[in-house]
Amino acid sequence: MAEINPHYQKLKMSYLFQEIEKRSESARLKNPDLLNFGIGDVTLPLAKPIVKAMCAAISELGETNTHRGYGPGGGYSFLREKIAQHDFSDQISPDEIFISNSAKSDSANIQELFHPNNIVALADPTYPVYIDSTVLAGRSKEVSENGTYEGVTYLPCTEENNFTPPLPSGAVDVIYLCSPNNPTGVALTKNALEKWVDYALKNKAIILFDAAYEAFITSNAPHSIYEIENANKVAIEFRSFSKKAGFTSLGCAYTVVPKDLHIPLHSLWKRRVSTKFNGVPYPIQRGAEATYSESGKEVLKCQIVQYQKQTKQLRDGLQKLGYTLFGGIDAPYIWCKAPSKMKSWEFFDYLLEHAGIICTPGSGFGPSGEGFVRFSAFASENTITQALKRLEALCALH
Ligand code: MLT
Repeated sequence: MAEINPHYQKLKMSYLFQEIEKRSESARLKNPDLLNFGIGDVTLPLAKPIVKAMCAAISELGETNTHRGYGPGGGYSFLREKIAQHDFSDQISPDEIFISNSAKSDSANIQELFHPNNIVALADPTYPVYIDSTVLAGRSKEVSENGTYEGVTYLPCTEENNFTPPLPSGAVDVIYLCSPNNPTGVALTKNALEKWVDYALKNKAIILFDAAYEAFITSNAPHSIYEIENANKVAIEFRSFSKKAGFTSLGCAYTVVPKDLHIPLHSLWKRRVSTKFNGVPYPIQRGAEATYSESGKEVLKCQIVQYQKQTKQLRDGLQKLGYTLFGGIDAPYIWCKAPSKMKSWEFFDYLLEHAGIICTPGSGFGPSGEGFVRFSAFASENTITQALKRLEALCALH
């Protein structure tokens, strides 16, 4: 008799962004003019040097002499070499880099490599994929009343600790860290990361470091965990072209699995990739390669500066209206405290109904996100200006 995976039944309601979409769709029936600050999705067009490289690659595939079939599952060396050189100053070897279609699926799939009894720790709040994939991997018990899953170690990130995940009091085996953190937008300092690497070395743990937003860092926070000494013995890093190069519609990312890790995860991941993945399409990898060309770098730098400008515009505007804010310095996410002790979903519904603004409820990222919402600053300057006007009008009404 076929039976469903019982771990799926432990998952809470729908995936966060599905629930937001559902509520927004129904609000749209009354007010079609909604302003979207919800899911973090890029709004600037794909940079021309990337488009050009992809078109050339597609043309190659249509010619007898240059067509290709399956590529290497872990990615073409032309891209892995560029990444090693540009993103890691050749401190990481190209064969420790695995090209994939998304950091989201890699950060979930990596759980396959660990012993079923391993204990997972994660920042709270953080990207919901980590907890969902921990539950699906059978590394949790049921969800408890306060919204946490038993068997998982939550690391509360609060105003009091500057949204920096504290070290666990007991031993854990696998630790998800996202820096700059989605949703708080706060990046871990070098000092904080050193403590985590030290912890992992002492406890023979593995850190799963998600650096999807590193390109937006403006402080002196590390862009990679490998800036910390000995991190190559205890850390896997996920990176993505999605936000830094506008690849959300294309799908290209990479995962670094060092050969020096204290358990042989490099060979296991390589094995997994060859069994389960046929690689990212050749034209997309050529597009990703173009992000490292001189013209590509130039356009992408302007795009990041534009997103940073928008983040500042939104942050300053919200601050002027009296909101209590965090983040928005090292990431295009602003973490906003809901006024009048409203709960996250209450404030979400309130903004949706009274201002036609879509944000993301903080509690969807973990119990410690309760009482907050996240604004994504990928929205255009014009959208931000309109939203600030609507919020100002809303303040005047109260
Ligand atoms: C977010 O809004 O948190 C992200 O865009 C979701 C994602 O990258 O999957």
